[in-house]
Amino acid sequence: MEVVIKKRKTEASILGAKIIAKQIKLKYDSVLGFATGSSPLLLYNELVRMHREEKLSFNKITTFNLDEYVGLDPNHKSSYHSEMNTNLFSRINISQNSINLPNGCAPNIPLFCQEYENSIKTAGGIDIQLLGIGKDGHLAFNEPGSSLASRTRIKTLTKVTIEANRKYFSDVEQMPTHVLTMGIGTIMEAKQTILLAFGENKADAVKKMIEGPVSTSCPASILQFHEHAIILLDEGAASKLARKEHYIEVYSNKPKWQQWE
Ligand code: PGA
Repeated sequence: MEVVIKKRKTEASILGAKIIAKQIKLKYDSVLGFATGSSPLLLYNELVRMHREEKLSFNKITTFNLDEYVGLDPNHKSSYHSEMNTNLFSRINISQNSINLPNGCAPNIPLFCQEYENSIKTAGGIDIQLLGIGKDGHLAFNEPGSSLASRTRIKTLTKVTIEANRKYFSDVEQMPTHVLTMGIGTIMEAKQTILLAFGENKADAVKKMIEGPVSTSCPASILQFHEHAIILLDEGAASKLARKEHYIEVYSNKPKWQQWE
């Protein structure tokens, strides 16, 4: 795991965008895994800025999103389809045919999940998967107790997650309690992962993920086994790490050729 601690979330987000831009420049038809929620918003703004001001092109990129609510119309303003469209896809030059999100309204959910897995494989696998972490340690919507080998499937949200995501629904009654999510096994097959976590309310989950035992009690802790996992934190999210000073020292002493900045 490479733990990078920045003073503010803006700096961490810009760094995340630089890593993605570097990947696109290296391989113009990269396969990118995207995430929703508040954590990636500044990173998406930076990608949009790079597209507008630096001509970063997404026209050959394929994307796969982590998750979607079950039973929510993709056109609903709180669906992850809408969220991605508003925050990123409508603002860059990506082809609509190259965008993939789980279909929470699929008539046959197990079949759809199998096809989603197949599409990722057919695309050649995910080059970089962007991730957030829940206060309960969830990764995508793999809540505590999820199998560490799981594949894309339906899951039930925990009370902690429902509470955290209520704010996105003007009518709480409309918030689904079930989701389709890439599995932990699916995420672990991405060639590289970038997890973003900001704010003190994530500090406990971040500590468990980085310094705790690998356990289904904190699904994000599985990233300790990933070959190329980057964790981008602000000071609040890093505030409970026992080895915080060490991570800062390691990062600031990286040889120039290993740095993104
Ligand atoms: P957040 O959600 O980015 O809105 O904090 C992250 C998550 O639940 O995985």
